[in-house]
Amino acid sequence: MIAAMNFKRILIAAVLAGLALPASAAETAAPEKAAVCAACHGPGGGKPILPEYPSLAGQYSNYLQHALHEYKDGKRKNPVMAAQAAGLSDADIKALALYFESQETTLFTPKIPSHKAR
Ligand code: HEC
Repeated sequence: MIAAMNFKRILIAAVLAGLALPASAAETAAPEKAAVCAACHGPGGGKPILPEYPSLAGQYSNYLQHALHEYKDGKRKNPVMAAQAAGLSDADIKALALYFESQETTLFTPKIPSHKAR
């Protein structure tokens, strides 16, 4: 009985240790073009300068790419972001999206096991 309880504790500790990997271990290096984004979205995209500006940090890269393509194509209308997205290539958009996805965030975004960076 006691042995079984200890085993359970060890198992729980092991699971928790596995989940507690530092987020920084998975961080992606900042693309050069991320510097301009920080002017409004904050360092790492996680501290916007105004409350109505969205946080990019920790958002799914496929969502961020989708949003940036829509600003660029004019499907999502925002004059500020249209100007920002106009100069981004597909490769820039992908690199920026992967970078911001990897940044630490205070937002809660559930992990989807089947989610793969695209
Ligand atoms: C001058 C300020 C400013 C700069 C610089 C800026 N943004 Fe934005 N960004 C905004 C604002 C304001 C919004 C909200 C627009 C809206 O309502 O659609 C936004 C929205 C976004 C969104 C949509 C987020 C969501 O949750 O839907 C993405 C993605 C984004 N920005 C990426 C970037 C990237 C990448 C850069 C750098 C290349 C950048 N932004 C530079 C102001 C800025």
